[in-house]
Amino acid sequence: SSTRLLIKGGTIVNADRQEIADVYIEDGIIKAVEPNMKVFDEIRVIDAAGHYVMPGGIDPHTHLAMPFMGQVTSDDFFSGQAAALAGGTTMHIDFALPSDGDLLAGYKQYQEKASKACMDYGFHMAVTKWNDRVASDMEMLVKDEGINSFKFFMAYKGALMVTDEELLQGLKKCKELGALAQVHAENGDAVVEGQTRMIEMGITGPEGHCLSRPSILEGEATSRAIRLASFVNTPLYVVHVMSIEALEEIIRARQSGQRVIGEPVVSGLALDDSVLWDPDFDVAAKYVMSPPIRPAGHNMALRAALSTGLLQLVGTDHCTFNSTQKAAGKGDFRKIPNGVNGIEERMHILWDLMVNSGKITPMDYVRITSTACAQIFNIYPRKGAIIPGADADIILLNPNATSTISSKTHHSNVDTNIYEGWTLKGKIEVTISRGRVVWENGVLNVFPGSGRYIHLPPYSYLFDGLDKIDSAYLSSLKAPRHYSK
Ligand code: URP
Ligand code: ZN
Ligand code: ZN
Ligand code: ZN
Repeated sequence: SSTRLLIKGGTIVNADRQEIADVYIEDGIIKAVEPNMKVFDEIRVIDAAGHYVMPGGIDPHTHLAMPFMGQVTSDDFFSGQAAALAGGTTMHIDFALPSDGDLLAGYKQYQEKASKACMDYGFHMAVTKWNDRVASDMEMLVKDEGINSFKFFMAYKGALMVTDEELLQGLKKCKELGALAQVHAENGDAVVEGQTRMIEMGITGPEGHCLSRPSILEGEATSRAIRLASFVNTPLYVVHVMSIEALEEIIRARQSGQRVIGEPVVSGLALDDSVLWDPDFDVAAKYVMSPPIRPAGHNMALRAALSTGLLQLVGTDHCTFNSTQKAAGKGDFRKIPNGVNGIEERMHILWDLMVNSGKITPMDYVRITSTACAQIFNIYPRKGAIIPGADADIILLNPNATSTISSKTHHSNVDTNIYEGWTLKGKIEVTISRGRVVWENGVLNVFPGSGRYIHLPPYSYLFDGLDKIDSAYLSSLKAPRHYSK
């Protein structure tokens, strides 16, 4: 028997158009989007009048069940995804981090962790060293396992950091495979120097975290990664863009025609670093993430860039640690596990911050929370659109209702929330995941094992025509030159 659902009378919002229409869903797929559709028997009808009906959010940046800095993140694939669904996100792309740098084994470990998934998910793979085995594993992952992006860490020296030489090899391999290279852009050597400086000055609290790794180090690494990607002529995706310095590098590169994508995260858009000076260690420590949340002003610049399309999509970097885990860094900020929450809050905060403030339209909201991510990771329009044939991942947002964030009521498995007490206008009242109503009337209806792995195919639109640029370059070298005899 097929499950049928009719969403009636809502304002359907896609990235490119907005209309009042009904959405008819059968077996998890959108079958029709038309005004005034007939209601047949045995169809569940959801009255969406006065609500925005939009594609479910896709979070391009999460860390679930990840071992990191001597701890394991408190949200696993079930709790983190349940939280996501309660907040209107219906798919995420998680960073598989191989514990020993072995990509294939790491990938298998992550698929095992994700066996309890209750929502659709994909993977990026982190590359933390370079050798022939890494190169052949990358090839296997792209060809057989649905991975089309690889993250290189330019920071976390002694743990995850790669050298420029390793990054260059990685960029070359990504280009060959049609995979998107991603960078964590901070100068890891200089970060260690900055940390030593703080400790020598006796600054050991959470404020030392942001003081030790200022935005100039993010700007430097962003510039370096962008120029190396230009040298290799391959697209680049800069994750968690937190500063004006990084933003300026991305804007310059994009304006020169380079294919660079910039991903701000909710914490960097919504907060400033004053929170890290809270005298209560437990309060300040919950905001410790890398790159750090910046002084006031950076957040406003990131919002402006997002509203004008200079930044393309928004992630969360959801990476939760309980206060007992954060306490590992009491007396030495270098040992505070880095990471903040956001997977459950992203959609509500962005609506309030960007749409209610008049910075963007509901269509832009759909683009930055869903459509752009689907396009970049090459699964559009199966995801990221409300059109016939697409997966029925849909949210209903009531623009007049409000909600208040609290660790006491959130669904994420963490005992704090960096947005504690925030009241936001615009409430996601219903979440539909592949045709199933999973969030309604404040109640989750999810079960482990119902989430599907979404294969992300190589060669997104970002690779179109790159070969033409390469051959133009080659023929320019072959042209007669004054010094050849
Ligand atoms: O602080 C952060 N961002 N933790 C997660 C790891 C990363 O660098 O994305
Ligand atoms: Zn990172
Ligand atoms: Zn991250
Ligand atoms: Zn309602």
